[in-house]
Amino acid sequence: MSTITTARFVRAASLAELDAAAEGRLVVQVAGHTLVLLRHDGGVRALDNRCPHLGFPLHRGSVKDGILTCHWHHARFDVCTGGAFDLWADDARAYPVEERDGDLWVDVTVPGDPREHLIDRLQHGLERNLSLVLAKTAVASGDLGVPPVEPFRAGVVFGARYRRGGWGQGLTIHTCLMNLVSHLDLEDRPRALYQGLSAVAGDTAGNAPRFAVAPLPGGGVDPSTLKRWFRRFVLVRDAEGAERCLISAIHADANRQTLADMLFTAATDHHYYGGGHVADFTNKALEALDLAGWTHAEAVLPSLAPFFASAGRSEENNAWRNPVDLVAMLRGAFEKLPDALAAGRMKRYGGGAELIPTLLAESASDAVGAMLAALSEGCKPEELAALVTHAAATRVAQFHTSNEFGDWDTALHTFTFANAIEQGMHRAPSTELLRGVFDAAMSVHLDRFLNIPPARLPAPDGKGSPEELLEGLMPLLDGQQQVNPAGELAAAYLAAGGDPARLMARLGRALLREDRDFHTIQCVEAAVRQYTARRGTPEGAVALIAAARYLAAHAPTRRTQDQLFRTAERLHRGERLFEG
Ligand code: FES
Repeated sequence: MSTITTARFVRAASLAELDAAAEGRLVVQVAGHTLVLLRHDGGVRALDNRCPHLGFPLHRGSVKDGILTCHWHHARFDVCTGGAFDLWADDARAYPVEERDGDLWVDVTVPGDPREHLIDRLQHGLERNLSLVLAKTAVASGDLGVPPVEPFRAGVVFGARYRRGGWGQGLTIHTCLMNLVSHLDLEDRPRALYQGLSAVAGDTAGNAPRFAVAPLPGGGVDPSTLKRWFRRFVLVRDAEGAERCLISAIHADANRQTLADMLFTAATDHHYYGGGHVADFTNKALEALDLAGWTHAEAVLPSLAPFFASAGRSEENNAWRNPVDLVAMLRGAFEKLPDALAAGRMKRYGGGAELIPTLLAESASDAVGAMLAALSEGCKPEELAALVTHAAATRVAQFHTSNEFGDWDTALHTFTFANAIEQGMHRAPSTELLRGVFDAAMSVHLDRFLNIPPARLPAPDGKGSPEELLEGLMPLLDGQQQVNPAGELAAAYLAAGGDPARLMARLGRALLREDRDFHTIQCVEAAVRQYTARRGTPEGAVALIAAARYLAAHAPTRRTQDQLFRTAERLHRGERLFEG
């Protein structure tokens, strides 16, 4: 059959060929598309012959009363428009058909603006929690040259609006993965976008939306008063009062640092608040705005208020009170912070290497004393925060596999909390936030039993080919119990002079092929952030060793989400899935 094109329409077949076809359905190839032509209601209809769900040939389905049923998972479609009645299957593509002198002509061009279509589909996928649709939009956005930040932004705004409990795991995952995007190979970037959008959709599914609290009438309340009130409302667990302060500060054009300071101060008014998640979610919400644009602050930041008001406080936690009252110890130390900072103002600190063993040792009071001494010797708050984060990463890198499996999360929470406080210290440094550095150090102290005995940090000899080592990572993570070999591989790769960017990209790939796990995503993202800040240093290597070990402890999963993504990719490329 010859293919003749006039304007947008392409000759597909003759009417005689259609009438001669079995059951009146003719499969044709038109400009690279496989279509099924079929008669309905006195006319001829054309549909993409691949079921949008998993690619089953639709010409093998059945048609009754204008509804075509695919025979694999029984999704139903309107023959005329391709619209699905089973939304999980996605709409089939229908093509306009014209009859001309006994021939059938089909228009295979995409109607309208493909980018607008993509955003519509994205919204639909988020609203209905349709992973397949979200995977297809993630793949299509790459092909259309849509910057990943555009779908990311849509996901952030949607997630902040449509979850009554406000900012949660879904948005944190979405932001972590967007932070990772620039470290990934190009082919893995849509996968990160898909996993993030799916996490948001899953977190909002079945949730009531949030209705925004209005700012105080007339404005005019200064930011310092709003900050004080915000802290007070958080203290008494009044989410609405806290939210009204936040939204009023945003409306009063409080700048980014002021808003960050308001949030981080309240996040550290309580010890290791929400198991570290309050500071971590705060940090991620601020990073989300850095990526999506601060014009969305009003939509995003108030979503933090419910968690601020509801999270658990470690001063109420027995582990922080007995046998050593860490809270009393810390409050005594906090009173000394102004003097320590004043003493260290004009000095340069060089004692970081000696501080780490003290942070990892047995005595909490020694750790607190050493930190105060470091500040008075010139250690800057952000420098101290970085040292404590390194100590927290070391706990993960030296986590002994004889611990309970759930203990990985304990070490992970300390690491991500310390990382969040460190990032906050760069964004909005304050004496109040410095309390969070001490809290992180106490959490490192409490985690000391997870390193008894400490797993040995790998000490590679620098021999071996980086390329071979890197190629060994994915097969290694196909097996269980590969925690130590994975850490050793990461260490050996770096010691052999391998490009750290390639290791981070490969860790990201390994992360994305597994089913989404909140904590593993947090760990890998924080480790990449830490390595990037300490590129080429032993401290940076420890962060990546920690990530490789954590990932290995949580792999392999069933990988069902990645299977769905690969299906979406193949459907998008026009591959024949069913036949394949
Ligand atoms: S319903 Fe058609 S392939 Fe699943």
